[in-house]
Parts: sequence; structure tokens; C-alpha cells
Amino acid sequence: MTAVRVAVLVSGTGSILDAMLAEDVPVVLVLADRACRALEVAAAAGVAVELVDRRAFGGFGSDFDRPAFTRRVTGVLEAHDVDLVAMAGFGTVLDQPVHDAFPDRILNTHPALLPAFPGWHAVAEALEAGVAVTGCTVHLATLEVDAGRTLAQEVVPVLPGDTVETLHERIKRCERQLYPRVIKEYISEASSWPEARFRR
Ligand code: GRF
Repeated sequence: MTAVRVAVLVSGTGSILDAMLAEDVPVVLVLADRACRALEVAAAAGVAVELVDRRAFGGFGSDFDRPAFTRRVTGVLEAHDVDLVAMAGFGTVLDQPVHDAFPDRILNTHPALLPAFPGWHAVAEALEAGVAVTGCTVHLATLEVDAGRTLAQEVVPVLPGDTVETLHERIKRCERQLYPRVIKEYISEASSWPEARFRR
């Protein structure tokens, strides 16, 4: 595979990161916006970790300095010579400069069939809506949340008695298969990428 360098952005348990590592996605950096188990997953795999703590930028209230946080994240990604960014449960919306620095090079996985149920509460909202099926979507990330071009989707059934937890876990099983595969397919086209950052 081309020597594309992938960074994974995380905030949670890191089970999808774990799946990427098991599938040999070329992860060179794991960046978190808060202390979380995913950083331990990365460290155990010997991958470089960076914590850009939201709390140093105003935390989770109206004081949060999103432009400054985004500048810091973008700077860290560039310092690690990253070619492709994969968000995997990252809990902060980033500003336009990161998309300018990595145009069409930021992917995300979302636990619903976009454009249905965008946003942070996708699993709960699908359950509340009473849909018979939901699923997961791998897409390009853009400034508008959960709105970039879809690369792949898979359907997951909603079963009687499901809770947000049981349904989310069923969706995540699907994401753990789909996301690494789609990332590797995306990387396989890297030789046609206009910028040559990865050809060091
Ligand atoms: C995934 O469902 C992802 O789509 C969502 O957060 C979850 C991350 O799971 N945005 P994990 O932290 O990798 O276990």
C-alpha cells in the first residue's frame, strides 16, 4: 500500500480505532480532544498519541474557542505529516481551516443512514422514530456536520426490545467492518490525489 499516513480523531472507547489497527490501516497518529480509553488503545498499539484538550480552549460551554482549537489540531496533524484524517467518534466540530488544510482528506463514520438522523443523538433518534432499519454511513467530512459525500452505507436492523445501547453496539459492529475497508479503498486511490504530500 502507498505510504499514506493516517491520523484518527477520537473521544471515546476507541473500539473502531481498534478495528482499524487490526485491519492494518496505516495509523501514525491518534489525536483526542479529551482523556479517553481510545488513547490507551493507541498507546498499547505503539501509535503516537496527542491530546488537544478542549478544556484548555474553554471546555464545553459557550466560551469554547473553536477557531483556536481547530488551529491547534490542524497544526498537530501537519506536524505529524498526515495525509488522511479519519474521525472515529470525535466529539468536537472543527472549523473550516482544517478542511482547507485537508481537502477531501477527512473521513467520518456516522451511526445512521445519512441523510437520516445526522448529529450526536443519531441512535436515540432512530429508535424514537420507530424505524425498522438504520445503519452506518462512511462519508467525507465537511464544515456542515454529517453532510459530506457518502462513500458507503450498510443497513442494520432495529430489533424488538432494543435500547440505545444494544442498537448502538449492533451498529458499531457494522462500523468496525465497514470503516477500515472503506479507508483502505480510499487510500488505494491515493496515487491519483493531486497533492503529493504522501510521496516523501
Ligand atoms: C461510533 O458509533 C461513531 O460512529 C460515533 O461514535 C462511535 C465511536 O465508537 N460517532 P468507539 O469510541 O470507536 O467505540
